[in-house]
Amino acid sequence: RGKRAFIAGVADDNGYGWAIAKSLAAAGAEILVGTWVPALNIFESSLRRGKFDESRILPDGSLMEITKVYPLDAVYDNPEDVPEDVKANKRYSGSSKWTVQEVAGSVKQDFGTIDILVHSLANGPEVSKPLLETSRNGYLAALSASSYSFVSLLKHFEVLPDFKRGVDVTGGASISLTYIASERIIPGYGGGMSSAKAALESDTHVLAFEAGRKHRIRVNTISAGPLRSRAAKAIGFIDMMIDYSLENAPLQKELTADEVGNAAAFLASPLASAITGAVVYVDNGLNAMGVGV
Ligand code: NAI
Repeated sequence: RGKRAFIAGVADDNGYGWAIAKSLAAAGAEILVGTWVPALNIFESSLRRGKFDESRILPDGSLMEITKVYPLDAVYDNPEDVPEDVKANKRYSGSSKWTVQEVAGSVKQDFGTIDILVHSLANGPEVSKPLLETSRNGYLAALSASSYSFVSLLKHFEVLPDFKRGVDVTGGASISLTYIASERIIPGYGGGMSSAKAALESDTHVLAFEAGRKHRIRVNTISAGPLRSRAAKAIGFIDMMIDYSLENAPLQKELTADEVGNAAAFLASPLASAITGAVVYVDNGLNAMGVGV
């Protein structure tokens, strides 16, 4: 059988998750996505109405098919974790089984297993505040949505039969998206989001060991350059970061989401069968610069 991927964090056609889905689909994978519950209705209706058809076109001219869209809120592991006000919220009560454990269970029930797990989501409610002005709750929320969400997804998906065995020499593959603000000072990437990316990268190492020894699952993260996604626009300084990269990176071209998608497809493929625990930069080389010229 062909490989099957579950991509958490797709709610429109602008972000890295969508581009990764396309690259994996172009390589022959079946695509399942997890969409944040509050964004689910608009994403599904836009898909149905053909709003994304142009961006669904694959290199061979066919359209990417998304086999199933699962509602997901990666901040909650199981129904017992969900506070009453969220349960009662109209946007949430209209969907069901959207905690991480339930989504993994539904995927297992619907398809048996997956081969590739992608985490392309982040959220930091206080991202526009400097770290020194970030509240404890804001900081913990950033880590919960952006870092622990990966631990939780891997933990609940690692038990699926072929994901843990691997259908070929590659074994199961998991990938997340990180940002260089984890290791260098990027003023404006606040609210504990820099801390959350540092945790995500550190966890990439530890989880590569744990999931590798246990199930031969590979765990890698892509440190991506700036992209004008919905999430990035919400932070507010994305155009400045794109200009900065254009001016200072070794490769002076705008980074496309497809370039990150292609790197993810490589990391998920047998071509990368010995790569795990890696932070792979897909940023036109900006990370390697010391001073701008
Ligand atoms: P995006 O807006 O396309 O993706 C973020 C997704 O996370 C959205 O679909 C949102 O609905 C979802 N999400 C938020 N909270 C969630 C939750 N609790 N449960 C489930 N889904 C939730 O934006 P983008 O930028 O493509 O983000 C994808 C990943 O790429 C993130 O990890 C981001 O930090 C990372 N990244 C983005 C860069 C950029 O410049 N855009 C640069 C480097 C990394």
